[in-house]
Amino acid sequence: MLDTLKRPVRDLRISVTDRCNFRCGYCMPKEIFNRDYEFLARDLLLSFEEITRAARLLVDRGVEKIRLTGGEPLLRVELEKLVEMLVGLGGIEVTVTTNGTLLDRKAGALAAAGLNRVSVSLDSLDEDVFQAMNDVGFPVAKVLEGIEAAAAAGLGPVKVNAVVKRGVNDHTVVDMARHFQGTGHIVRFIEYMDVGATNGWRLEDVVPAADVVAAIAAEIPCEAIDANYPGEVARRYRYLDGSGEFGVIASVTQPFCGSCTRLRLSAEGSLYTCLFANEGHDLRQLMRDGGSDEDLGDFLDGVWKGRTDRYSEIRSSETAGLPKVEMSYIGG
Ligand code: GTP
Ligand code: 5AD
Ligand code: SF4
Ligand code: SF4
Repeated sequence: MLDTLKRPVRDLRISVTDRCNFRCGYCMPKEIFNRDYEFLARDLLLSFEEITRAARLLVDRGVEKIRLTGGEPLLRVELEKLVEMLVGLGGIEVTVTTNGTLLDRKAGALAAAGLNRVSVSLDSLDEDVFQAMNDVGFPVAKVLEGIEAAAAAGLGPVKVNAVVKRGVNDHTVVDMARHFQGTGHIVRFIEYMDVGATNGWRLEDVVPAADVVAAIAAEIPCEAIDANYPGEVARRYRYLDGSGEFGVIASVTQPFCGSCTRLRLSAEGSLYTCLFANEGHDLRQLMRDGGSDEDLGDFLDGVWKGRTDRYSEIRSSETAGLPKVEMSYIGG
């Protein structure tokens, strides 16, 4: 199954909740996501059975990797049950992207359910910087404990994702690289993106990945290495002394739409063919109206085959202001 730009569907990213216990300014700014914000009601969320059914039909169509996201996915009650159901589909990798706050409690159950790996978001090791960025005063040490719990449960190597924002945490990048040297965890620095419509994104706030690489290379000798697989989002660098690697995700300065094989399913069952899409394709309605596997399959085929997205390649000052769904809704 290929889209209009001849890209197959390989990765399915499933948001299991639009809620989060953090309020990162680049994702869920407090002024908007406050007490009055209306999160999705329970009955609007896809059930685990509905999610697994959609996943099964997409695995039949080429999906090899499923990533559970949110919001914060570990806030979804008994997420390990969903993991077990998805792993049961067979032949796919199942991973979770989390802020790590609940990992010390959940890592064991997730590993036992068959989860392959986790990615943990952590923007800085500087206590003040990190607490300001998560905007709920959550401490660094608790996230580091979560990362260790995940690794101990066999969910490593853990990928640690840091969004870099100019003047906010860019001065802590080298520290972070150094901290994770020799630990087996892989830190990846992500360019701040204009996802959603609430974070007040400005191009000036983006630190180009090339600058991050230069800052690290000036302190720790390193060299670029090949991607693990075609279409990998991160560019990889290894430390010359063999103490590990780091990565950069240059979604703004070096877009990778040409090899984008990702499809996203929102918590309420809408399909999005791009992180920057404005409208989804409602799969939930079709399911709840009693659609057969064949009906759903035809719908999925139509959505993917009609896909034209390449937002990051055509980004401009005009596109940045277009209406877009929030990342917390569609899934990182
Ligand atoms: P692995 O290599 O298997 O770990 O997958 P991954 O690189 O997709 O990992 P992850 O889900 O942690 O993605 C890291 C970050 O890359 C995300 O949080 C996003 O910020 C960014 N990203 C991932 N997919 C896309 C995409 O399709 N488009 C854009 N523009 N950014 C993306
Ligand atoms: N730009 C880049 N990355 C973002 N994420 C959330 N919002 C943004 C943004 N505006 C990332 C988080 C996390 C993942 C879920 O998405 O850092 O790693
Ligand atoms: Fe929550 Fe992740 Fe968004 Fe931060 S980036 S508010 S941790 S979903
Ligand atoms: Fe894929 Fe859209 Fe991201 Fe491009 S901008 S890589 S098409 S999700």
